[in-house]
Amino acid sequence: MALSRKLVQQRSSVFGSRSMSWWRSVEPAPKDPILGVTEAFLADPSPDKVNVGVGAYRDDNGKPVVLECVREAERRIAGNLNMEYLPMGGSVKKVEETLKLAYGENSEHIKDKRIAAVQALSGTGACRLFADFQKRFRPESQIYIPVPTWANHHNIWRDAHVPQKTFHYYHPETKGLDFAGLVDDIKNAPNGSFFLLHACAHNPTGVDPSEEQWKEISKLIKEKGHFPFFDMAYQGFASGDPERDAKAIRIFLEDGHLIGIAQSYAKNMGLYGQRVGCLSMLCEDEKQAVAVKSQLQMLARPMYSNPPVHGALIVSTILGDQELKTLWLKEVKGMADRIIGMRTALRENLEKLGSPLSWEHITNQIGMFCYSGMTPEQVDRLTNEFHIYMTRNGRISMAGVTTGNVGYLANAIHEVTKST
Ligand code: LMR
Repeated sequence: MALSRKLVQQRSSVFGSRSMSWWRSVEPAPKDPILGVTEAFLADPSPDKVNVGVGAYRDDNGKPVVLECVREAERRIAGNLNMEYLPMGGSVKKVEETLKLAYGENSEHIKDKRIAAVQALSGTGACRLFADFQKRFRPESQIYIPVPTWANHHNIWRDAHVPQKTFHYYHPETKGLDFAGLVDDIKNAPNGSFFLLHACAHNPTGVDPSEEQWKEISKLIKEKGHFPFFDMAYQGFASGDPERDAKAIRIFLEDGHLIGIAQSYAKNMGLYGQRVGCLSMLCEDEKQAVAVKSQLQMLARPMYSNPPVHGALIVSTILGDQELKTLWLKEVKGMADRIIGMRTALRENLEKLGSPLSWEHITNQIGMFCYSGMTPEQVDRLTNEFHIYMTRNGRISMAGVTTGNVGYLANAIHEVTKST
């Protein structure tokens, strides 16, 4: 009896210590540089707090927005919805409509069935699927990523085990494009490299190449035989018009590139949490597109099988109906215009306060973000002294600025920057 108790004790201590040791070496992960800001904002009880961290559109009262076209689409699909699985590649109708936005309503490539496309889990999922595809079929390749870029791009290609290189993009002194640096890096990269490009409204800088510069970039990328992969998370937010914001992509198509595109409806349809996006790859011909699509599906299957249905139905209902599509375009323009108005207001407020610095870049930059030029220490002061939450790289999400908080924000920015 005594012996068996001892055995039990030994066993439980063995199992106990084994189970205790499984995760002992796991350290807490660092906070996400963007989503961690939202967590800190939510935990702050101050009534003055302002969130200009995450790139998510707010109305002029600082409230999240559900677009009217989305509300109407939901009314139309209510009761008409079954909960069956979508195919591995997602909703065919939704993908078709999404391709038209990127490649053009009357795209020859769509007609010729040269595009391999699958519905993806928003822009992040589309980039990840592409990165995994790149690793599987071009295992020797690297990806060139702009400096700076959306922080998650680094995580995505890292977790897909694709080595990363960087290319010059932003010039801290001019607070504009470092075109000369970018051109040099394209030229100096080994032929046949992968380049990650932001199609419009670059995140985090709000700095896009001009049309002429895009033409030059396309020409150089072609000469070097590089593969251009576009992340188009903000179509519509740069100019207020999704068609105009597809300009860079159209230039590359005219030049005969084979390209990849990650699209997302998080921002331009406000479908953030629905995770609805698309990955497309223009191929040499229909046969290749069929093969590529089948392999993309093969990558999706062991990760999540098939994408969620609700957001896809909202998108196809809106884009498949002329009246709803027109309403959507009007609402996109409304969001872009409100942001442009806030850029002017923030700059004017800072100038009125007598700031010794130039804030011209606030209105020169475009899209959802202003890359303010503030240092991480200045951002920390904004947070600690004024309860203003933003990413430590100095990025301000202009979508979180309102007529109610712009004066407070300008005053705080002036306080932390006036002695620099
Ligand atoms: C951002 O850059 O703030 C957004 O794209 C949200 C995110 O997932 O990081």
